[in-house]
Amino acid sequence: MSHLAAELSRLRAAHLYRTPRLIQGPQGPRPLIDGRRMLAFCSNDYLGLANHPQVIAALKRGADTYGVGSGAAHLVTGHSSAHQALEEELADFTGRSRALLFSTGYMANLGVISALAGRGDQVFEDKLNHASLLDGALLSRARLRRYAHSEPEALSRMLEGEGIRLIATDGVFSMDGDLAPLPALARMARSADAWLLVDDAHGLGVIGEEGRGSLAHFRLDPDQVPILVGTLGKAFGTSGAFVAGSHELIETLIQRARSYVYTTAPPPAIAEATRESLRIARCESWRRERLQLLIRRFRAGAAELGLPLMSSPTPIQPLIAGSAERALAWSRRLDALGILVSAIRPPTVPEGSARLRITFSAAHEETDVDRLLKALGSLKRGDHLSGLAAVP
Ligand SMILES: Cc1ncc(COP(=O)(O)O)c(C=O)c1O
Repeated sequence: MSHLAAELSRLRAAHLYRTPRLIQGPQGPRPLIDGRRMLAFCSNDYLGLANHPQVIAALKRGADTYGVGSGAAHLVTGHSSAHQALEEELADFTGRSRALLFSTGYMANLGVISALAGRGDQVFEDKLNHASLLDGALLSRARLRRYAHSEPEALSRMLEGEGIRLIATDGVFSMDGDLAPLPALARMARSADAWLLVDDAHGLGVIGEEGRGSLAHFRLDPDQVPILVGTLGKAFGTSGAFVAGSHELIETLIQRARSYVYTTAPPPAIAEATRESLRIARCESWRRERLQLLIRRFRAGAAELGLPLMSSPTPIQPLIAGSAERALAWSRRLDALGILVSAIRPPTVPEGSARLRITFSAAHEETDVDRLLKALGSLKRGDHLSGLAAVP
């Protein structure tokens, strides 16, 4: 296995080696990491629900009622009334006939794409789609065709051919924070008689009325976007994912999505916790308002400092470094100041676009944003931000 050691050395030398940090306690803006209290700007707990007392209480009640493990796959004896209630509430939330739970967003995307497309079909994907959407297409054995980021015209030139044609896109791009051009994609899908799948992992809970996400933001209905994927481990602060759509779509997934059929159902107590976090996310719109306030404050301060931000209206505010080495250096410098922002490097993002992926949560204070800006300012003055890459 010496070639493994050689490859690990190569990753280290290229500044692409990754290691998990040890977090000692709950998620939140001030996690205890490797024994140090940090101010963190890199979780996806956008609404601050991952450690919410009512969500924790719902999890405990769920465990008292259902125990810990679900014990079996949904189609055997793993599907509890907690799962069923959550699916019905997610269908109501998304304005669709049905919803189906998966254990993770990664599994939802593998399952839905490989259930709907196969050999002889085509899956069209934005170049910056999340890895799970790309992997779903590869697993399906359909032909994967990638179009330039957010360029519906590039897609329209490809959208011909026989068989099923499925267009799949992030709603909010996970590493850039921008919104996909969904109205144009929906028009294109309709005129080409193709299906449109939107993975709104970073939009649901965060944007649109009641946090209904990118589709609500653009006022798109289920006819225009028949397949909606949502995740529960980000704004909803728990774990898992779902696909929402028509009765026929969900029945097809129950028969054919292998990552639904051949796996143990998630713990019912997690479903109970998610029911509570969904309720809070829907009705506590102050969390979304607070996020917008923090985003505005950050963007205004960053502009004053002359930092080149991307045009993101969401809590994902990347600062492009260019090389992996530079992104790591910035992240380390912030770390020394007690601020945690992880460096995102290839292959998660394209070569030459390594970055600090700064994210905000409704649990942050305005003074937290000021502290981050001050730290970025000191980096800039100390010339650590010299040679900032141009925004692509
Ligand atoms: C757009 C997108 N889809 C799917 C996923 C996967 O979701 P999960 O973390 O629940 O597997 C992620 C992030 O992890 C994501 O950013």
